[in-house]
Amino acid sequence: MQIIAEYFPLFIDGTVYTISLAFASVILSLPLGALMALGRLSSNRFFNTICRFYVEVIRGTPLLVQVYLVYFGLPMFGIYLDDFVSAVMAITINSTAYMSEIMRSGIQAVDSGQTEAARALGLNQSTTFRKIILPQAVKNILPAIGNEFAVLIKETSIVSVLGIRDLMFASDTVRGATYTTFTPLLFAALIYFILTFTVSQLMNRLERKLAQSD
Ligand code: ARG
Repeated sequence: MQIIAEYFPLFIDGTVYTISLAFASVILSLPLGALMALGRLSSNRFFNTICRFYVEVIRGTPLLVQVYLVYFGLPMFGIYLDDFVSAVMAITINSTAYMSEIMRSGIQAVDSGQTEAARALGLNQSTTFRKIILPQAVKNILPAIGNEFAVLIKETSIVSVLGIRDLMFASDTVRGATYTTFTPLLFAALIYFILTFTVSQLMNRLERKLAQSD
């Protein structure tokens, strides 16, 4: 316990770093994921294939490898980025693929009868999408975006292997400095849990609110 008290500021800094990483990545992957989802839904074979390829490759390779590729790969091309920027970039690249699938499936989950009814009433394709499909899709998509945020809070722990000062790195530092393993790890786990639990509670509340309007 004394260890925790002594290194508390380090844990706090790490926690702030972790939240910032996850938040920045989720915010950036929103528009990118939306674009990618549109590509996946479009009838343009070229866009569709490119977006599908991206999603499959990103989801089919470990986040750890992607983080390494950005962190060590870019400098080989003369691109030197700040630690935070390169971590956010790698995580955003990863999250965009998941985000696009969240959006695509959220849109496709809206019953096709909705489109048929809207078109039968004379709405054109774009109005149907904007006024009928999208508002319903948002209900499927919002909770899943919250979930993605919670996933990222946990997954960002991977960047600690690069010496980036997130929460996991703080726990590793304390472990090394004090030769105690269990306490710092357990404390880090507790903080991760508090963060993800808070997000999931907020999402539950949002879901209930969205359900009310049904
Ligand atoms: N552990 C997974 C991997 O290595 C990370 C997946 C990230 N998931 C996400 N929803 N962004 O691929």
